[in-house]
Amino acid sequence: MDKNKANTVLNSKLDAVTIALKKSIKNLDSYTHVRGESVYVDDINIRQGTFHAVVFDAPKAHGRIKHIDYSKAEALNGVERIFTYKDIPGKNEIGGIIPDEPLFAEHEVHFWGMPIALIVAESEFIARKARQLITIDIEELPVITTAKEAKAKGSFINAPRSFSLGDTEKAFKNCEYIFEGETFSNGQEHLYIETQGAYAEPQENGNIKVTSSTQGPTSVQKTIAQVLGVAMHKIEVDVTRLGGGFGGKEDQATPWAVMAALASFHLKQSVKIILNRHDDLRMTGKRHPYESTYKIGLSKDLKILAYQTEFLQNSGASADLSPAIAERTLFHATNSYYIPNVTTKVLSCKTNLPTNTAFRGFGGPQGMFVIESAIAKAAHEIGVSASQIQETNLLEENNTFSYGQIAKKVEAKNSWNSAKSIFNIEALEREIHSYNKTHINFKKGLALMPITFGISFTNTPMNHARALVHIYLDGSVGISTAAVEMGQGVNTKMMQIAADVFSIPIEKIKIETTNTTRVANTSPSAASSTADLNGKATLIACNALLERLKIVASEALETSKESIVLKDGFVYHNSEKPKLTWTDLINKAMLNRVALTENAHYATPDIHFDKSTEKGHPFAYHVYGTAIITTTVDCTRGTYEFDSVKIVHDYGKSMSEGIDLGQVEGALIQGIGWMTMEEIAYNDEGKLLSNALSTYKVPDIFSAPKRVEVIPLETDGHDLAILKSKAVGEPPLMYGIGAYFALQNAIKAFNPNYDLEFHAPMTPEKVLMSLYKNP
Ligand code: MTE
Ligand code: HPA
Ligand code: MOS
Repeated sequence: MDKNKANTVLNSKLDAVTIALKKSIKNLDSYTHVRGESVYVDDINIRQGTFHAVVFDAPKAHGRIKHIDYSKAEALNGVERIFTYKDIPGKNEIGGIIPDEPLFAEHEVHFWGMPIALIVAESEFIARKARQLITIDIEELPVITTAKEAKAKGSFINAPRSFSLGDTEKAFKNCEYIFEGETFSNGQEHLYIETQGAYAEPQENGNIKVTSSTQGPTSVQKTIAQVLGVAMHKIEVDVTRLGGGFGGKEDQATPWAVMAALASFHLKQSVKIILNRHDDLRMTGKRHPYESTYKIGLSKDLKILAYQTEFLQNSGASADLSPAIAERTLFHATNSYYIPNVTTKVLSCKTNLPTNTAFRGFGGPQGMFVIESAIAKAAHEIGVSASQIQETNLLEENNTFSYGQIAKKVEAKNSWNSAKSIFNIEALEREIHSYNKTHINFKKGLALMPITFGISFTNTPMNHARALVHIYLDGSVGISTAAVEMGQGVNTKMMQIAADVFSIPIEKIKIETTNTTRVANTSPSAASSTADLNGKATLIACNALLERLKIVASEALETSKESIVLKDGFVYHNSEKPKLTWTDLINKAMLNRVALTENAHYATPDIHFDKSTEKGHPFAYHVYGTAIITTTVDCTRGTYEFDSVKIVHDYGKSMSEGIDLGQVEGALIQGIGWMTMEEIAYNDEGKLLSNALSTYKVPDIFSAPKRVEVIPLETDGHDLAILKSKAVGEPPLMYGIGAYFALQNAIKAFNPNYDLEFHAPMTPEKVLMSLYKNP
């Protein structure tokens, strides 16, 4: 074979590998998932003598504890011990950002479902039985359930935050149109299939190993150490995978792990705690409901000149991640639009609901719902379509966000225009128009939803990760990072990176459990940044090993390091026939006493944010896209279907197309669920009414859009994205916001007197009432 031909063969081989690695890859977890072999906390083989724990929680939303009688529960056969705040050797404190959250209530309860004690017994059944034997006397205090009430009473988590750009007050004076209004978006239950849980095992010398279903193993480790009053190195936290997290396990997986560790610490025995669905629904926080007011001002030619909002976040009983979530609401308050004069303010309102927490989008969706509502209102009043206003105000290159970052590599218009042309929006609109003309009892509606989402933890110091890569004697590879697999496919992406760098089959790579002893001081797997941060660290580690191996190869083959290429499990020197296999090379490295382990660190460069001026460059990059959503409403019943969702999404250069498509589809449907059918309800006493899956409806296959098409936007990707493959976990959730406005447009087609209301979710009941409502 001549040299050129050899090169061609080699290159086509390389292409084949690249395609195998980057495109057609399946989520490698799917093999164990479909066989029922994937291991969750509840599947661990537990030690003989393991105790089981159940939480005793507050049966009132706010009050003073006068008396608790544990005697009957303690006397029950099989009950080992009941733990309360009095048994805490360290601090009764689990708050991450603000220390305002006890593990167990002491003298007051602040929400219905607040943990008071832990019942530890021989079996979960006995512990549950014991729970029914506890009596509690609570002197009730006034209950706040809404953010507005909290604001009126001055009940806040922290000081308000405000971003501003330009001179909003002055700009309103130059507006042709000004509209004001109110919006409400409700909470959302995470409904991870695997409920919260943990398993703690005592080790020698008072050390404890905890297996937790957490997105943040380091927070679990740190909090256990704090509550037990021991050093962090005594606590090892291990995570195999989660049966879903969706943000609900970023902070709120911690208390259960701490409780299991506390009981294990005292009893010197293993302790397991798995919340059942009812307990999980009642005791854990959800997406934050927001009550907001807006004022929007436009010029005659529909340019938004000024925008002002006040967001009231219903934080629940303590801070948890609320301050960071409130901040992200401000970051995304103008969605994909450039508005030169902006004043946004957010108040984290303390109420007597379970502490609300991270949920896919992390406050961004709540902010984006308000600007889309303001645009819909303006369009309705002016008598134009919302898409005209949306299109007129899309972000452009070098526009400034209200937080000071200059928009670069902006794909807002590109995705918008691509969606409109690829999916032939004019034809769609014509179709809908003629359908509505010829149908009396059914109406269709369409809405466009552009998205712009910033990638990075908004708290700059959190944007770092490490990877520990071992190459074993036989050429197999083990990788440890902080990435937690929760269904998003990050483990597969990590494997792809290593397989790509070493050019070896994916079967040779193993992703180890996420473990605080192997990779320490980590950020949670969140902010859609897990693959970027941990992937970049993995890339650095693998490349360092590769360089080392190339030196070994060049010495063995007596050639220069530069001429060595590793491809498909072989070592090539120029384009000649391979002389060494990957395994030969590893053996040689061992004989030469070369380290086959690398630990690498990555920190996102060039990001910063100054909270004193509320300006900076907090995001590595933004993700863009546009969705077109159409719906058909049954105007006799108020029920509806989503006919199609057509999306042009900015994946950058996707490294795993199947996984990324799964993320877009899943997030979209989760977003539609939030906006339409998922209705969290508490009564005025703060009791959760939607406390089971019979009263809390999430989208199923029947309510999923009939057709979902996702076209990747052709772009270069971004250097700060792993292998130019942009973060994909959260952004597409916000396409679901379009569902609200598609429904609203269908209602308008039926009821011309409908006065727009912005009160999500748009349940069939609400649709029905709107169809027949006259102002
Ligand atoms: N996808 C699945 N299947 N399960 C999940 O729990 N969580 C979402 C998203 N996609 C989640 C998911 C959330 S809230 C985030 S922040 C990202 O995944 C986290 O993973 P990433 O950083 O790897 O995108
Ligand atoms: N996103 C998700 N989780 C977080 C963030 C964020 O921006 N900041 C802190 N935790
Ligand atoms: Mo996702 S809400 O950042 O866990």
